[in-house]
Amino acid sequence: MNVKVAENAGFCFGVERAVDMVYKEAMRGDNVYTFGSIIHNEQVVRELEQQNVKVVNNLEELRRMPKGTIIIRSHGVSKAVQDAMENMGFRVVNATCPFVIKIHKIVFEKSNEGRQIIIIGNEDHPEVMGINGWCHDKAIIVKDEKDVEKISLEEGSKVCIVAQTTFNYKKFEVLVEIISKKRYDIIAFNTICNATEVRQREARELASVSDAMLVVGGKHSSNTQKLYEICKKECINTYYIQTVSDLNLDIIKSFHNVGITAGASTPNKIIKEVQIACQK
Ligand code: F3S
Repeated sequence: MNVKVAENAGFCFGVERAVDMVYKEAMRGDNVYTFGSIIHNEQVVRELEQQNVKVVNNLEELRRMPKGTIIIRSHGVSKAVQDAMENMGFRVVNATCPFVIKIHKIVFEKSNEGRQIIIIGNEDHPEVMGINGWCHDKAIIVKDEKDVEKISLEEGSKVCIVAQTTFNYKKFEVLVEIISKKRYDIIAFNTICNATEVRQREARELASVSDAMLVVGGKHSSNTQKLYEICKKECINTYYIQTVSDLNLDIIKSFHNVGITAGASTPNKIIKEVQIACQK
């Protein structure tokens, strides 16, 4: 049997980096906290708990904790939150994805130059809230045409547009186009990260040449669900599994070419276990 794992299955670069940083800090033996769950994967969160890494959800909770190290996850936080952590006496380890830090820098600089920041993204998403915090919480946040219609700045206003890293590129283009017609002085930065798109494209390609396809990920993970749908369209024998224990080897062994992909919060270890089980 041939077993092939998609190159970009599982964690993206930013999440992998953040998770590695947490495990490294856990080994130092200090009190270690993450500001929100580092990833949405029950197994990883449980494993980190066993290594004494606790999740704190807000500054109030952190204030009540014994001093130690606080890790900022890949989504990033506002400047005010980061400063507050330091002022409370915690050692801050910044695991914000470098692609997100780039957006922080843009909005910080451009808002200080007097430009109105427009963030194309979801206002409730922690990444967007963090970005807004780097431009004094004054950004206009839009996610669709309806929101864009409501923007009413003076003609000639200086505007800087950025996007949430996971925003859909086609939609971003459409919204920038609409804003461009409003006679503002615009600069726009495409800050979308293509990790999700690449993962989906590879999954589709691999599924199209496989006899069976395994999609590995948490049952509540929406991006794994999406990968499953993409693969199922290409390969009728597509199976959604959470871990190796869900694998029905009798069925899998009846196929010649088996492909494996995994959602964005599936650790490499779990992907590897599935791969080894198939190859046995
Ligand atoms: Fe991941 Fe960073 Fe892109 S966290 S999705 S590599 S912006």
